[in-house]
Amino acid sequence: MSRIAYVNGRYVPHREAQIHVEDRGYQFADGVYEVCTVRKGVPMEEKGHLDRLERSLREMRIDMPMSRAAISLAMRETIRRNLVEEGIVYLQVTRGVAPRDHPFPTKKVRPALVMTARNSKPHPTPWLEDGVKAIVVPDIRWGRRDIKTVGLLPNCMAKQAARERGAYEAILVDADGVVTEGSSTNVWIVTEGGALVTRPPSNAILNGVTRLELIELAAAEGLKFEERSFTLEELRRAREVFVTSASSFVMPVTQVDDRPVANGKPGAVAGKLRAAYLRHMDAQVVA
Ligand code: PDD
Repeated sequence: MSRIAYVNGRYVPHREAQIHVEDRGYQFADGVYEVCTVRKGVPMEEKGHLDRLERSLREMRIDMPMSRAAISLAMRETIRRNLVEEGIVYLQVTRGVAPRDHPFPTKKVRPALVMTARNSKPHPTPWLEDGVKAIVVPDIRWGRRDIKTVGLLPNCMAKQAARERGAYEAILVDADGVVTEGSSTNVWIVTEGGALVTRPPSNAILNGVTRLELIELAAAEGLKFEERSFTLEELRRAREVFVTSASSFVMPVTQVDDRPVANGKPGAVAGKLRAAYLRHMDAQVVA
């Protein structure tokens, strides 16, 4: 089957999908994106992702390329045309095409909207049964990590370092020794005292759509929850560590650098939240 990309209102063969050389996304990373999981052909957490897309665009003073309803339709059509059952749909909006110059164009330019969708394999069983490894790297990113921009080079470098050390994720730590987030995930711990902890939203992290949903699911499960920052020290002493995102769901981390987390086995809280999240996704498929 040949893949299809959505490019500014047209569905084109993936191979031929093109963006202009002077697109500001290409030249300045002047654009934002979203990744939604697809289950049984349905995009998950659509409202949360579209809310965040609108927010990112507003913060960057880029117009919505079209209405939410039209974006939603195009997203579903991209999923359908690519026969995606279980996978992801990717959506990117850039400021558009203009002669290269740092300030935003003075003439009105049309934002560029691109979407792709593909099937992906389920998480390998050992990742869930044994947990995954994470490494720790300094967070060298800019000060507006709440905006989901395509300026991901520090994230890519951190993820590459993780891969080179056989790890699933890189946990980013700021100059004060405080954990910010993962290179493409939010980070959670269960403390020695049994409290579930993740950072509050701020300019320091991306406010994950998965994160927001899990806070609600944790409350429904009656878990003791604290929304606060935590240090790398505290993470190293934690009973559980896990990371969350649209593509990881809830992924238990059982090794950080060369040390096991607690007894080196995935914890009960991560297991409970992952199961709750899977049920929550199933409910969106039938809804
Ligand atoms: N990443 N933090 C960062 C830096 C991220 O890039 C992501 C998502 C998250 C989790 O957000 P959400 O729960 O909305 O997926 C946190 C996506 C999956 C990506 O870049 O592929």
